Amino acid sequence: MTTKQDAVDAILAAHTETTISKAESYAPANIALCKYWGKRDSELNLPITSSLSMSLGSLGSRCKLSFCEAQDRVILNGSELSAHDPFVARASKYLDLFRNGTDRHYLIETTNTIPTAAGFASSASGFASLALALNTLHGWELTKTELSILARLGSGSASRSLWHGFVEWHSGSTPDGMDSFAEPLETDWNDLRIGLLVLEAGQKPIGSREAMQRTIETSALYKAWPGKVATDIRVLKKAITSKAFDSLGATAESNALTMHATMMAAWPPVVYWLPESVATMHKVWACRKSGLPVYLTMDAGPNIKLLFQEKNRADVLDQFPTLLVAE
Ligand code: DP6
Repeated sequence: MTTKQDAVDAILAAHTETTISKAESYAPANIALCKYWGKRDSELNLPITSSLSMSLGSLGSRCKLSFCEAQDRVILNGSELSAHDPFVARASKYLDLFRNGTDRHYLIETTNTIPTAAGFASSASGFASLALALNTLHGWELTKTELSILARLGSGSASRSLWHGFVEWHSGSTPDGMDSFAEPLETDWNDLRIGLLVLEAGQKPIGSREAMQRTIETSALYKAWPGKVATDIRVLKKAITSKAFDSLGATAESNALTMHATMMAAWPPVVYWLPESVATMHKVWACRKSGLPVYLTMDAGPNIKLLFQEKNRADVLDQFPTLLVAE
């Protein structure tokens, strides 16, 4: 079995280290239009299917990385986290992969421009920005493909956070995961917008990692998921090439609802929806019925993301005044 350390060692073997004292990076958050839901290898975060996302521009994570004494430290949005914070433990475990036999420790100063307190995932932009900062700090000069693989080892969706615009993460098929990385899709579609609606800031009932696993193990509907993804990625890529908004929106919405259906059929059931989520869905559908082209997508939480075109921004904001539009 390939371990995370094997994967890191294989990548770094081809690069020399020229360490500097401080590195800075930025990575955008991303929202999948065709979701990643299910792993074929949970050590390496290798997915069962490919996925396709849209990045959130200036909503993401900034990372400053340097060295410090004795133990790793994390300063998040200006406040130092306790050494016992689960976020510090997760970052430190990831950094273990890069100590290269030394007892060096890292100081991570990270600022999220995506509102994480409001329940939006920062692990994708967080691990992507950390992989970028590690590369600069150590002067490895890794390729984007290699960086995507390293980011994936932190969190699967982080593999897609190294680019702006549309990004496809290829599932790959080799056991060592060296063919499982993301790539940007060529496009000049500037009119497409994505906005975030904060419905609930509370703790999730179950993390996405455990929920994915439970879905694979217990949901009778999961067997239909890979076929659905294959079709949706094909349609989405065509919609992106031809700038077909309704096709893109409808496919993204249907993909998200199918993912949620598979997890609701798990046992115990995984239901992230709250009454406000369902009420918002009905509002989106009513808007569409009255002629406003707006579609929704959802991840492992109750919040809703809206897809629309710049020309309809004022009408969409009229209906959803609290919408945070990614620029
Ligand atoms: C629903 O990338 O957070 O947002 O690989 O276990 O860290 P791990 O999972 P993560 O899962 C994201 C799930 C999703 C769909 C998506 O972003 O594709």
